[in-house]
Amino acid sequence: MKIAIIGQGYVGLTISGYASEHFDVVGFDSNEKVVKNLNSGISHIEGINSSLISERLSAGRYRATNKGSDIKDCNVVVIAVPTPLTKDRKPDLKFIDSACQTIGENVTNPVLVINESTSFPGTLRNFIKPTIEKYSANRINHLYAISPERVDPGRTDFNQKNTPRLFSGLTSEASRMTRDFYSKFCNTLIEVSSPEVAEAAKLFENTFRQVNIALVNEFAQIAHSLGISVYETLDAANTKPYGFMKFTPSAGVGGHCIPVDPTYLAAVAEEHGAPATFIRRANEVNLQMSEYVVRRIAEDNDGDLQGKNVLVVGVAYKPNVADVRETAAELVINHLRHQGAVVTWHDEIVGSWKGESSSPLIGADITVVVTKHDSADEKKILASAPYVFDTTGKITGAKGL
Ligand SMILES: NC(=O)c1ccc[n+]([C@@H]2O[C@H](COP(=O)([O-])OP(=O)(O)OC[C@H]3O[C@@H](n4cnc5c(N)ncnc54)[C@H](O)[C@@H]3O)[C@@H](O)[C@H]2O)c1
Repeated sequence: MKIAIIGQGYVGLTISGYASEHFDVVGFDSNEKVVKNLNSGISHIEGINSSLISERLSAGRYRATNKGSDIKDCNVVVIAVPTPLTKDRKPDLKFIDSACQTIGENVTNPVLVINESTSFPGTLRNFIKPTIEKYSANRINHLYAISPERVDPGRTDFNQKNTPRLFSGLTSEASRMTRDFYSKFCNTLIEVSSPEVAEAAKLFENTFRQVNIALVNEFAQIAHSLGISVYETLDAANTKPYGFMKFTPSAGVGGHCIPVDPTYLAAVAEEHGAPATFIRRANEVNLQMSEYVVRRIAEDNDGDLQGKNVLVVGVAYKPNVADVRETAAELVINHLRHQGAVVTWHDEIVGSWKGESSSPLIGADITVVVTKHDSADEKKILASAPYVFDTTGKITGAKGL
C-alpha cells in the first residue's frame, strides 16, 4: 500500500509519521522549503521528531515531494490542507480546491480519498468529489471518505493511537477501506452514518470549546467587577462531580481551529436559515478579551501606557508550540501599541515572527504574559518588570484576570 498525504503541516505530517510505520508514504506539500527540510530529515512540527523523519527516510518508507506526479501510483490519498476564512470571514476552500486539482490531474487509477481537513457538512460529497472529477481527464470512480482530525499539537497524553477517530465513507466500500487504513495506527474507530455527521461533529466539538471559552472569559470580567477571584470561583465550581467542566480565562483564543471552525458551522447554518447566535457572540467576546486585558493593565498603571516599555511573554497561541496562527498575542500587541506603548515580545519557541525577534526577558516597565510555555522561567518572568500581568493564571504573585 502506498499512501499520499497532501499537506505536510500539523495534521499531515503527524499522519505521515504514524502511517509510515505501516505503509510507504509520500508527503506532498506545495511549500518547497517544507519539502526540502523534510527530505533532509528536519521536522517543523511539535510531536513529530526529526529523528523519526530521518529514520523513515532511510528505511525508504517516507519521502516528501512537491511534484504531483509522485502521488500517481498511490492507493490512498489523505487531504490535510488548511481551511481558513476569507477576509470577510467566510469558509475558504481554496486549498482544498488545489489539493483536489493535484489529485484529479495526477491520480489515474481509482483510489480511496480521505479528507482530514476541517470543513462544513457536505464538503466531501458536494465539493471534494465533484472538484476532483472536474480536474480529472477521465471520469474515475474514486472512493471517498471523511475522517476529521482531532490532533492537539504539543499534547502528550492523547495522540493518534489513543484518540478515538470518527469516520464515514460515501459508500460502504469506502468506509470499510477507511477503517482498514486507520486501524493500523488508531485503537478506536467510530463509524457514523454519513460523512455529514462526521463533518458536523468535528465542527461542534470546537464550537463547544469556543463557546465555553467565551463564557469563562466573560465570567472573568464579571468576577473582577465583583472583586472576587475568577480562579478560586472556578475551582470551587469544579468540586461538583457532575454537570460542570472547567474552562479557564485567557487573552483570547488562537490557532487554526477554535477561532475558525465555528464560523464554518455558522456559515452553513445561516445558509440553511438556522440561527448561529452563540457562535457569533462567542467570537465577539473572545476577540474583545485582548482589549479588556490592555484596559486592565492601563487602569493599574495610572491609565497611561504612552512610552512605557511593555514586554509580551509568549506569542504562540498556546503553550509549548511555535504556532502563531490567530494568536491573541497579536491583538494584545496591537492594542498596546495603539495606546502608545513600546512593545517587544519574548518567546523562545517562536523565535522570530512578523519580522521581529524574541527579546530578552528583562528590563521592561510592564510584562504581560499571554502564553506560558513550560520552559519559560516563572521567577525570570516576575523579575522582568515591576508590574507583571498574567492572563494565564499560572504565575503566582503576578496581577491577573
Ligand atoms: N493544527 C491543528 O491542531 C488541527 C487539528 C485538527 C484539525 N486541523 C485541520 O486540519 C487541516 C490542516 O491544518 P494544519 O494545522 O495541518 O495546517 P498547516 O498549515 O500546519 O499545514 C498545511 C500544509 O499544507 C500545505 N498546503 C497548502 N495547500 C496545499 C496544496 N494545495 N497542496 C499541498 N500542500 C498544501 C501547506 O504548505 C502546509 O505545509 C485544517 O483543515 C485544520 O482545520 C488542524
